[in-house]
Amino acid sequence: MKRGRFITFEGIDGAGKSTHVAWAERFLRRRGIPLVVTREPGGTPLGEKLRELLLGASRPVAAETEALLLFAARRQHIEEVILPALQRGKWVLCDRFTDATFAYQGGGSGVPAKKLEALETWVHARLQPDLTLLFDVSAELGRERVSRIKSPDRFEREGAAFFRRVRNAYLRRMREAPRRIVRIDGGNSIPQIREELEALFERLWKK
Ligand code: ADP
Ligand code: TYD
Repeated sequence: MKRGRFITFEGIDGAGKSTHVAWAERFLRRRGIPLVVTREPGGTPLGEKLRELLLGASRPVAAETEALLLFAARRQHIEEVILPALQRGKWVLCDRFTDATFAYQGGGSGVPAKKLEALETWVHARLQPDLTLLFDVSAELGRERVSRIKSPDRFEREGAAFFRRVRNAYLRRMREAPRRIVRIDGGNSIPQIREELEALFERLWKK
């Protein structure tokens, strides 16, 4: 059986990831592609508990603690959900993955990239997404979209300067892995973005 494809969705808060994950799920299911849709932090019972702890924490959590917890949950997610699905020929759509840790804990909160690289090698040296969609919007546009949300989580309450650093870290990651990470202009209209995604999925399907 052919291995499934692993697609991750990335970008700052408000970039449009959730909107496009939901659409991609419908689009690929209509094509008869077997799918698993998941997210980080989360994706397993342990990961979802950790998500609550991280996003709802009322006291500050040190950035390195966050990074360690995120990678621990990621290891469980890979073992329990991602690898078994791929091995069964399913496509995995994941709302955020390791690039988010480089962007938020790295770029946003200042954890040195070297330390994150060591964790990445430890946790998933042989696994990388087949395709990462980086929904790119300015910190201002992301903020404007998120401000319509009534109860922002801990990260969504950060200021524009934080999101500028997060965005720059994502773009840096893209320059380091230009074949895997594709930039999608999240300022474009939703129909325009869907057209772009269709073409990318088509290419991945044929690979
Ligand atoms: P994320 O998951 O990246 O935080 P969402 O998908 O929740 O972002 O989108 C945030 C808000 O912006 C939602 O209200 C969504 O409808 C809107 N939105 C998403 N993409 C676009 C777009 N390309 N153009 C206009 N509005 C958008
Ligand atoms: P997200 O699923 O985008 O939340 P929502 O659907 O409510 O927009 O992600 C939750 C938050 O977790 C987001 O603000 C970014 C943060 N995060 C990190 O800081 N590092 C990580 O490695 C991951 C996966 C997420």
